[in-house]
Amino acid sequence: MELDWLLAPPLPDAVPRQRLLYHRLREAILAGRLAPGTRLPASRQLAQSLAIARNTVLFAYEQLLSEGCLLADRQGTRVAPLALGAMTQRAETTPAAPLQLSTRAAAALQPGPVRETAALPFAPGTPDYGAFPFRAWRACLERAWREAGWRQLGYAAHGGDPDLRQALASHLTTVRGLAVSPEQVVITSGTQAALDLCARLLADNGDTVWVENPGYFAARVAYGLAGLAIHDVAVDGEGLAPTKADWRDQPPRLVMITPSHQYPTGRVMSLARRLTLIERARRCGAWIIEDDYDSEFRRAGPAPPALFGLQPDAPVVYVGTFSKTLYPGLRLGYLVLPKAIAADFTLAAAQATRAGQGIEQRALADFMARGSYTAHLRKMRSRYAARQAALRAALRQTLGAEIEISGGEAGLHLVLWLPPEVKDTEVAARAAKLGLAPRPLSAYARPPVACNGLVLGYGNLEEARAMEAVRRLALAIHGDGAV
Ligand SMILES: Cc1ncc(COP(=O)(O)O)c(C=O)c1O
Repeated sequence: MELDWLLAPPLPDAVPRQRLLYHRLREAILAGRLAPGTRLPASRQLAQSLAIARNTVLFAYEQLLSEGCLLADRQGTRVAPLALGAMTQRAETTPAAPLQLSTRAAAALQPGPVRETAALPFAPGTPDYGAFPFRAWRACLERAWREAGWRQLGYAAHGGDPDLRQALASHLTTVRGLAVSPEQVVITSGTQAALDLCARLLADNGDTVWVENPGYFAARVAYGLAGLAIHDVAVDGEGLAPTKADWRDQPPRLVMITPSHQYPTGRVMSLARRLTLIERARRCGAWIIEDDYDSEFRRAGPAPPALFGLQPDAPVVYVGTFSKTLYPGLRLGYLVLPKAIAADFTLAAAQATRAGQGIEQRALADFMARGSYTAHLRKMRSRYAARQAALRAALRQTLGAEIEISGGEAGLHLVLWLPPEVKDTEVAARAAKLGLAPRPLSAYARPPVACNGLVLGYGNLEEARAMEAVRRLALAIHGDGAV
């Protein structure tokens, strides 16, 4: 048999010479050019005719035999019956199904990449990376590595590192007034993983989840990917404002809220609204997911009481994160669960995620036990308060005293409301060309809710740079920012 074409040029660069024959034979078999049943020459003969080492041929044959492309019997080596002919014919008549994501994933996808955390002025959700206590953190990490054993290198313990769960339970008791035990805390890879777990462990396929409108888009993605039906519920000055029709026509299984500092408007849910929500959720068998993502940075006084601790056995799951207090790439957050489901949820979460990050978890437990976390929070609270004050002053000075700003009670961002004739998406596009990263408020809303404004992060905006950044923002707002 004439097999010279097997090594004919052009020869692919990426394939080592040693493997070229194997590669070409395999290609020919899979493409049907060497039909099933075709007898191949003996290895010595093929090596001679191609003028290559016999070992190269032996390697190719052995590899293809082990993959099932060739069969060997007493008469020699032949191409295995791989039913490729049928496949080739079918491909000619029926176009192959497109390679694509599931309908669920395609529907849940949001336009644009995952948040750009580049430290541009006004990027929402960016903490002050420059103020991160690198030295203290590195010391904790080094200690964690020095002492690392199988527990830290294997999958994480159920619920997470026991010392971290303990540290968080006492932190939340002291700082947030939540009387919780370590068994009620489950460490997660940030809020996103926590929401995913809630969707999968507390709701069934097709159940309804209420999300705030405007609201946190990443939560929509998590719930959409988990196969839940998303129902947008409007937000007013007191937080989530479900109507009678919402309760009657779209009874929820999950209700996702950011009550301490509604994301993105910054409104705080009233106590009356909190109690009513718990009562209604209890009656219809719904779980409230309380995302307390930035209450560590309250401007004045303690944070409003969490729904989680308001009533015994309330159907509330509390979610917290280290993304704002430390840094988002750490990917550590936590869930706090009612006692009634804590054990089952912890076990299910361990089975669902097979979590890890044992070293980071140990380092964080150490960081908290040494008081470094509380000290860092204290420092950052006053730093962010000063940054917010500088931003407010610069905005008023540059844009006029009558501008409407909301959301300063906590966190790392303000909302600047814009008049209807100034479109927030256009301002954001012009601002981007000027090296700024405010986010248009309308991007967080779904019809019929419409809002027009800018979400202005100030976590990474030093006081000294506020005025200059606001002057550039003013250019974008007034339409002179077209570059
Ligand atoms: C409303 C809200 N929740 C939670 C988070 C933190 O998410 P993660 O812990 O997944 O980083 C953010 C971050 O921007 C947020 O805006």
